[in-house]
Amino acid sequence: MESWREIETRAEALHPGSGDDRRSDAGVLHGTAAWASPNGPLLCLRIDAHTPASPTDFFALSLARARADAIVTTGATLRAEPELRHEAGTGALARGLADWRSRVAERTAPPVSVVLTRSGELDADHALLADPARRVWIATGEDGARALAPRRLPAHVEVWTLAQPSLRAVVAGLRSERGLGTVVVEAGPSAARELYTPPVAVDELWLSLCGVEPAPDVVEHAPLPSLTELEHRLGPPRSGVDGDEPSGPWSFRRYRAARRAAPPSC
Ligand SMILES: NC(=O)c1ccc[n+]([C@@H]2O[C@H](COP(=O)([O-])OP(=O)(O)OC[C@H]3O[C@@H](n4cnc5c(N)ncnc54)[C@H](OP(=O)(O)O)[C@@H]3O)[C@@H](O)[C@H]2O)c1
Repeated sequence: MESWREIETRAEALHPGSGDDRRSDAGVLHGTAAWASPNGPLLCLRIDAHTPASPTDFFALSLARARADAIVTTGATLRAEPELRHEAGTGALARGLADWRSRVAERTAPPVSVVLTRSGELDADHALLADPARRVWIATGEDGARALAPRRLPAHVEVWTLAQPSLRAVVAGLRSERGLGTVVVEAGPSAARELYTPPVAVDELWLSLCGVEPAPDVVEHAPLPSLTELEHRLGPPRSGVDGDEPSGPWSFRRYRAARRAAPPSC
C-alpha cells in the first residue's frame, strides 16, 4: 500500500513547491487534460478508451479528488462517461490517497458529487448516481427540475434548483452557501470556459498537456482559452514538470491565481 508520505512525495514531484497550498483549502480547482493546438486554443481531450494514456494525469486527477469537498461535473460529461464514479485512484493508490485525505487534507467524509444540467437528461442508473455512500446534488434550473421529477432518482440524490444555474453560480454557491472549501471542477470545455471570463472564478488550474497531437475525434471542439489567455488571467505557471508517458511526452503545469481563495462563510 502507498502511504500518505509516498503520496506527498509524488504530489511534490508533480507540483514542486505546492506543499503549503496542498494543506489549505484550494478554493476552486479546475483540473483538465488538453492539447495545445499550434493555432492557439486549448482543446480538451475526450475521456474514453481512446484518450492518450498518462498515468501521471490519472494521479493528478486522483489527487485533486482526494483533496475535494465537492467535485463538479456536468450532464454532458455523465452522458459521455457512463462509468464515471469520482473515485480517487484505484487499488494501492486509492488506499494511499484515502490515508492522505484523512491525515494531510484532514477530511473524513467523501466529497459530494455535483452534476450541473440544464436539460435534466440524466440516466437515473448512471454509476455516479448509484453509490449510496456518496452524496450527489444535481444542480439545475426550474425546467431541469421538472424534467427530473418523473425519473426515479436514488434517495441519496438531491435536486438543487437554482434560479439561474451556471457553473459559476454552482461553484460560488458551494463555497459561500454550503460552506465547502475545496471545489474541484471536472467539466468539459463548454461549461468550464465560463470560469475564465473575468472576473476569473478559478483559484488553481492543474493542466495536463498532451505533447503529441491527438486524432481529431479525441479532442472536444469547444476550445478553452489559449495558454496565452490563461496566463494573462492566472499569471505564469507556479510549476511545470515534463513527463515521458506511455502515449508520448506530456507536461504538467500548476497555475494559481494571485488572489487567495476567500474562506467559506459558514
Ligand atoms: N479533458 C478533460 O479534462 C475532461 C474533463 C471533463 C470532461 N471531459 C470530456 O468533455 C466532454 C464533454 O464536454 P462538453 O463541452 O460537451 O460538455 P460540458 O462542458 O462537460 O457540459 C456542458 C453541459 O453542462 C450543462 N450546462 C452548461 N451550462 C449550464 C447552465 N448554465 N445551466 C445548466 N446546465 C449547464 C449542460 O448539461 P445538459 O446537457 O445535461 O443540460 C451542458 O450540455 C466529454 O467527452 C468528457 O469526456 C474532458
